[in-house]
Amino acid sequence: MQLKIVITRKLPERFINVLPSSIEVVMWESDHIPMPREQLLAQIKEADALLTVLSDHIDRELLAAAPRLKIVSNLAVGYDNIDVGAATDLSIVVTNTPDVLTTTADLTFALLLATARRMGEGMELVKEDQWRSWSPFFLAGGDVHHKTVGIFGMGAIGQAVASRAKGFQMEVIYHNRNRRLEAEKALGATYVSFEELLRTSDFVVCLAPLTKETADIFNYEAFKQMKPTTYFINAGRGKVVVEEDLVKALSDKRIAGAGLDVFREEPIRSHHPLLQLKNVVALPHVGSASIDTRTKMIQLCLKNIERVVEGNSPLTPVKL
Ligand code: GLV
Repeated sequence: MQLKIVITRKLPERFINVLPSSIEVVMWESDHIPMPREQLLAQIKEADALLTVLSDHIDRELLAAAPRLKIVSNLAVGYDNIDVGAATDLSIVVTNTPDVLTTTADLTFALLLATARRMGEGMELVKEDQWRSWSPFFLAGGDVHHKTVGIFGMGAIGQAVASRAKGFQMEVIYHNRNRRLEAEKALGATYVSFEELLRTSDFVVCLAPLTKETADIFNYEAFKQMKPTTYFINAGRGKVVVEEDLVKALSDKRIAGAGLDVFREEPIRSHHPLLQLKNVVALPHVGSASIDTRTKMIQLCLKNIERVVEGNSPLTPVKL
């Protein structure tokens, strides 16, 4: 029987052309509109492998409808969109794309700089002909260099943010579910409790995955502990933040600003309360969106698929 891969977003043909001709590829026709669930349910019935993106919800019902499925290869480092427990029960391997996307640290740092130095406001103002003249405190923001960055989630991306922060002579503190002694040594990062991270950071940078423990962790209680001069940056997952509480903290001037690449509901819409605030810099979930990185991520996804359908172990399996 011919092997079948279902790919839920349109990928450039050059990635598909190099696959063995023995593999049938069913690829969704759009690179930005999600594959409808009914289509996916229909196609997955005879699929041996599934290549998904983070907006696909791969739940037990879907996995149970795929008797031949051996692997779900997720084009992301996060995998909260997949029921890994159900996949494990059904002996389906789940893989992600760790380590190839530390470019997200560049975007995170750009967001941190843009938020502190009010770059979004500045750009809007220039484009709308609102720039009148030089003035002493015109668009004056917060310094970045020599400040304290508190990284919540010290995986590969968190560590890459820490090493960029060193170039700005920042003090690096972090909180993670387990200590990262090597990172402490290599980057001079100091482990602190979550509360201390909130209380003492000038920049709280969230890069943690979405789990039962991290869901809604950035709520009003958390924002209240931050300094009024602190900036909150999130390039992890939107659902770690209670957005109403963030709106309140920003409006009450409990914190100075927020730089956000991720939201509870994506795409976020322009009427969203967060987008009415001047001290919010918002991006459309583009942390890993460099050409080189996306190329590596796609190649890694396909490599994992090839290995698993040929009976080998995947390069980057997700563990429960
Ligand atoms: C992006 O958010 C990812 O998890 O890769």
